[in-house]
Amino acid sequence: MRAAFAVSLFGLFGLAACAAQAPLPSGVAAGAQTYRALCAVCHGPQGQGDGPLAAQLDTSPSDLTRIAARNGGVFPHAQVIARIHGYPGQFHEMPDYGPLFAGPTIGWRDPQTGAVFETPSALVDLADYLATIQKA
Ligand code: HEC
Repeated sequence: MRAAFAVSLFGLFGLAACAAQAPLPSGVAAGAQTYRALCAVCHGPQGQGDGPLAAQLDTSPSDLTRIAARNGGVFPHAQVIARIHGYPGQFHEMPDYGPLFAGPTIGWRDPQTGAVFETPSALVDLADYLATIQKA
């Protein structure tokens, strides 16, 4: 499972490396900015699943403030990164996720397992931001 994840990450990031896009600023603030630009339309301004597009979807967007609560109180960083990563192919009306994948990568360490994945820093920032909006 972890190997398959790593392989798919490397495959996609290899492609993304060819795209010429300006990297986003780093850190949780950058993650918040990315969230507002790409995710809030469905997941809502505060991440509670109530964005303007939510009513038009067959599946309700998840309440992203309760990811940890749904996972026994632990924010599953790697799963979240993998989920976001997997979305571009799944929605017809998906916004352009290019900026998430085209910037510089970092060796991101999964806090749960200690495994290190080469991951776009914009994606790491976005997951770090989501970790800060978790509610009990
Ligand atoms: C077009 C609407 C739409 C957009 C835009 C969107 N999502 Fe979602 N998202 C959904 C829907 C619908 C679900 C629930 C169905 C599913 O899990 O596939 C979901 C589920 C998720 C989940 C799984 C939550 C869980 O508890 O399992 C995560 C994480 C997530 N989205 C993050 C994001 C992030 C981060 C962005 C922006 C980069 C984003 N989404 C943009 C519609 C959207």
